Amino acid sequence: MTNKDIVSELNLKLKNKTPEEIIAYFLEKFKDKIALSSSLGAEDQVLTHMIASIDKSTRVFTLDTGRYFQETYDLIDKTNKKYNIKIKIYFPDALQVEKMVNEKGINLFYDSVENRKFCCKIRKLEPLKRAFEGLDVWICGLRQEQSITRINTKLVEWDDKNNLIKVNPVIEWSEKQVWDYIKENDVPYNVLHDKGYPSIGCRPCTRAVKQGEDIRAGRWWWEEPENKECGLHIK
Ligand code: ADX
Ligand code: SF4
Repeated sequence: MTNKDIVSELNLKLKNKTPEEIIAYFLEKFKDKIALSSSLGAEDQVLTHMIASIDKSTRVFTLDTGRYFQETYDLIDKTNKKYNIKIKIYFPDALQVEKMVNEKGINLFYDSVENRKFCCKIRKLEPLKRAFEGLDVWICGLRQEQSITRINTKLVEWDDKNNLIKVNPVIEWSEKQVWDYIKENDVPYNVLHDKGYPSIGCRPCTRAVKQGEDIRAGRWWWEEPENKECGLHIK
């Protein structure tokens, strides 16, 4: 059986299951070879809540780019305390960041898409490689509705680039389902969500959106929608 066959089979098997059932299935099957990759966004907080309710020893990690909002750091602390867990922080390589900003500028991301993607590479993709060590599966909070770059994303995917199974338990959820779950279960969330920030990334690359604007309009707002991925989810 190829990896792609395994993934197709899993998609069929888990088709009508709830996110909790999907998570329970993977945690049982992959135990210490699975982790949630969390940006502390609303979807990731839902997943952290579900995971902590099933098995608190499951690894949850975040790629701290060094350019997060203070509110995001506050949420890391609050989440750790509420669930009695310890979100693992991966930090970019200091020398690589130093070289990048000295050569290309401290705010290089505004100068070109190429620079922006390079910054995401150094600050997220390089540390992600370390986060993947020893893993067979990574859990993410992607939803199809989030953007044109995600409409074809499946519940379970084979991540060719990293040689891992990738599972997106809330892939079919609407924004309303996410927020209903947060409210019903008293899940801690980033206070910026109440101030016009539906999608939150790094501070210099995220702005608030106006009523009626797309939920990802405030991410890399100076770029075209088809460019708006940091590289984590490019196949
Ligand atoms: S991004 O590619 O535009 O930054 P987004 O913020 O929508 O992604 O998050 C999508 C999913 O990618 C999250 O649910 C999470 O699983 C993962 N992710 C994004 N950023 C990070 C991060 N800094 N650390 C860990 N996981 C992340
Ligand atoms: Fe750099 Fe912006 Fe990407 Fe963050 S989102 S890693 S600051 S380019």
